[in-house]
Amino acid sequence: WASLEAAIRDCRACSLCRARKQTVPGTGDRQATWLVVGEAPGAEEDAAGLPFVGKAGKLLDAMLAALGLNRQSGVYIANAVKCRPPENRTPECAEIDACNRFLNQQIDWIQPTVIVVLGRPAAYAVLGREASIQSLRGTIHYREQGDRRIPVIVTYHPAYLLRQPEEKWKSWQDLLLAQSALSSH
Ligand code: URA
Repeated sequence: WASLEAAIRDCRACSLCRARKQTVPGTGDRQATWLVVGEAPGAEEDAAGLPFVGKAGKLLDAMLAALGLNRQSGVYIANAVKCRPPENRTPECAEIDACNRFLNQQIDWIQPTVIVVLGRPAAYAVLGREASIQSLRGTIHYREQGDRRIPVIVTYHPAYLLRQPEEKWKSWQDLLLAQSALSSH
């Protein structure tokens, strides 16, 4: 893990390295059952070096708590890209592609039982295809990882839910679907 984090810190594979204060590799339980994948660090994450420490992170923590989970045990939180995009813009597919080997390594080592994907860029990073959240949520997708087939549930990004709180119930449904994927695994 130390060498992976060093490789992320030294990465110059895309232009996001230019404006970053620091890289944000991920945090949590390296033997997690649940892997949560977000989009990219924002200003607070870039300053802290940790994912989801801002307002969206508080909501993510509440979502995890509703499932009886927390980021210290059983959960690992990572992002599709490890560096903050300028002005918090959405990362481009080429940037996600350039960063994907790091996420792939994390999935390989953690061997999560289920992956929860937050938002469209994260879905692209994990499933390798561009599609709306609307079309991706509500069903269990799979990621082939070595000889394993990991169930993937796609839901809204918490930053979106902060803007559209009336959609929170849909995310709750998605998390329950993830839980059922887990118990039937
Ligand atoms: N949004 C994300 O997708 N990731 C973070 O780490 C913070 C906000």
